[in-house]
Formats: sequence, C-alpha cells, structure tokens
Amino acid sequence: MREFSFSPGPEVIFGPGCSNKLDNVVQNMGAQKILLVSDDGLRQTDSPQKIIDVLNRSSIEVVSFFDVRPDPTASQVSSLAKKAVEDEIDVIVALGGGSVLDAAKACRILIAKNDDDIVEYEGYNTFSKTTLAPLVALPTTAGSGSEVTQWSVITSGGVKMGIGGKALYPNVTLADPQLTISCPENLTAHAGIDVLTHAIESYVSKRHNPISDILALEAVRLVLENLKRAVRVPDDIEARSEMLLASLLAARSFANADLGAVHCMAEALGGEKSIAHGLANALCLSEVILFNAKTAPERYARLAKETGLVKFDSEISTAVRTLLGEIDELLDAVSIDADIHATNREIVRLSKLAAQNLSVEGNPVDLREEDFQRMFEKVLKIHD
Ligand SMILES: [Fe+2]
Repeated sequence: MREFSFSPGPEVIFGPGCSNKLDNVVQNMGAQKILLVSDDGLRQTDSPQKIIDVLNRSSIEVVSFFDVRPDPTASQVSSLAKKAVEDEIDVIVALGGGSVLDAAKACRILIAKNDDDIVEYEGYNTFSKTTLAPLVALPTTAGSGSEVTQWSVITSGGVKMGIGGKALYPNVTLADPQLTISCPENLTAHAGIDVLTHAIESYVSKRHNPISDILALEAVRLVLENLKRAVRVPDDIEARSEMLLASLLAARSFANADLGAVHCMAEALGGEKSIAHGLANALCLSEVILFNAKTAPERYARLAKETGLVKFDSEISTAVRTLLGEIDELLDAVSIDADIHATNREIVRLSKLAAQNLSVEGNPVDLREEDFQRMFEKVLKIHD
C-alpha cells in the first residue's frame, strides 16, 4: 500500500436538536458577544430566532448579519469582516448553506490580517501562520460540506476562487438535521446531488486513499437510499439525518482526496452563468463519467460493485452503465433537469476556466481545454 495522509477535520457534534448546545459550545470559547451570520432566505424561517434564543438564555449578546447572498462575493466578505470588527465580537456563528459558511470562514482572514481584500488570499495556505477568530458552523443544507472542510469558495469578477488552509476549518460544527428541514425541495435536490458528486469524484480521484474511499462509498450509499425521501417528505428527520451525515462523510472524503472534472466544470458554470452549484454538478456528472470511463472505467465499476449496484463478478462495462443508469434515475426522481444555453465563445471561456481549476489534478484522466470543450458542448445548448 502506498503512503498517504488523512486529516480528520474539525470537531463535529451531530444529531437532531444538537444546536441547543450552542450556548455551551461558544461559552467554552469564552464568547460574550457573537456575530450570527446567515442569509435572507433563512431570515424567513424560525431557525435564526431559535439560535438567538439559545444564546440569549446564557446571556450571550448577539449581533446579526443576514446579507450573505448565493455565491458570496469578495465585497460581501469584506462587509462581513468590517461588521465583526466594528461590533467587537469574539466568536462567529455561521447558520446556513455553503455560501454562508464560506463567507464566514473567509472573513476571519480579513479580520486577522486587518485587510479588506480577500482576493489576495486565493490559493492554499496563503495565511498559514494566522490565528483566526473562533467559528461555529451550523449547516442548514446537506450539500457543500463546507462545515467540515478547509476551503472557502468566493466569487470575484465572475470567477470562483478557492481559499484554503487548515486554519480555515470551523472550530466546532453542530450538525443538527432539524435545521435542514426548512431547506426547500429544489435546493434539497441540488444539494443532495452535490453530495453524490463529492463522493463519486473523491472515490475516483487520483488522490484517493483507503480512508477517503470508505467515507465516499458510505456517502454514495446514503444518498441513493435517502435523497428521494428527503426531497419528497421534507420533515422526514431520518432521511434528513442520513443526508446530512452523507454530506459530512463526502466532504471529509473530498477534503482529503480532492475532486475532479465535474467540479471544474460546475465552478466555471457557477461563476460565469450564475447556475446553482448542485444543478451545475447534476448537468455535468454523467458526461464526465462517460468521458473518464472511456480510458479509466475501473474505479467507477468498483464503486458500483462496492455500493451493491451490481454483483462483484459483473463486467466493468456493465457496472459503469448501471451506475450511470442509477444517476439518471435519481436526477429524474428528484426532478432535476435544465436547459442551459451558451454561445461557442462562452464555451471556450468556460473550458479555459475549467482547465485552470485546481481540482483538475484529481481527475482520474488528464484533461486539456479541448476535452472540457467537448464535454461542455454535450452538456449545454449551443446558440449563436
Ligand atoms: Fe460541490
């Protein structure tokens, strides 16, 4: 067996109702005044007030910031940091999906560096010797897994950039499936396909290892068993719990093993065409599998066998075909379908961006810009 390293990630407290422990968690961090970061969609639900009530019962002062938008921009991260400094808060609590969590993670760099431009910190470990403000993450979607990764994706000038480093992990994640019940049907479906994509891409990644494999396989199994139910019966707490668990497992898998071409394409589409991340993954997933499996089908076939989709003695081609059929059926069942239009010029630009994505290194097959172009041409509707 070859050498590998594996990082377990932040402390996670998991279970329905565990967000009630938030006051104890932040008190252990010495918090007297916290910044609650969330978004406008969640403001319409009762989740933020429940969190504020938990904190207030322990006399912890709360200031709120609800202005994080989907695909947070560098200027929003800067506003968030400014708010934290002006209000002299000592702990940040992020309540939301990937966008909220990513913005909250990244703003701590600007606070620590007394800076206002997050773009300067693109890449990995650009702030490695910095102690960041304590952060507690409360995910409200089972998708990005940002609550347990060392990455933050921020959009600048229509381009998504990754900022990463071990210091970026939340200090504690409270994964409470009850908080995901308010997640609307289409977002639950998109986020769930994001989880599936994380698991599949990390399993077939060139950088996979035996621990990331186990996490990825369990995540695939959980998504196939529970996503339809979580979409159709939103308050099914068991299905919501299994999906949230799947998202944590898949995220710890890809945080160690990297992703691949689906995310390269989805992030280009998200930045250039403002397409929801999970939907962009859903559009690209099967096309990338078809492309990769032409020359490297073995890991896809093994995934199908290990998750019980086919028998262990099945032909490789049968296993890959079955996996693709299962993905098609799932996308259909959770009503994911969209026609995204693009010009030839846009496809050239998208392909260039995809080929520059850091996760291209994880893809099981080496890819050039022309390869991305061919896949985008299949996935998008071309118009002049
Ligand atoms: Fe993703």
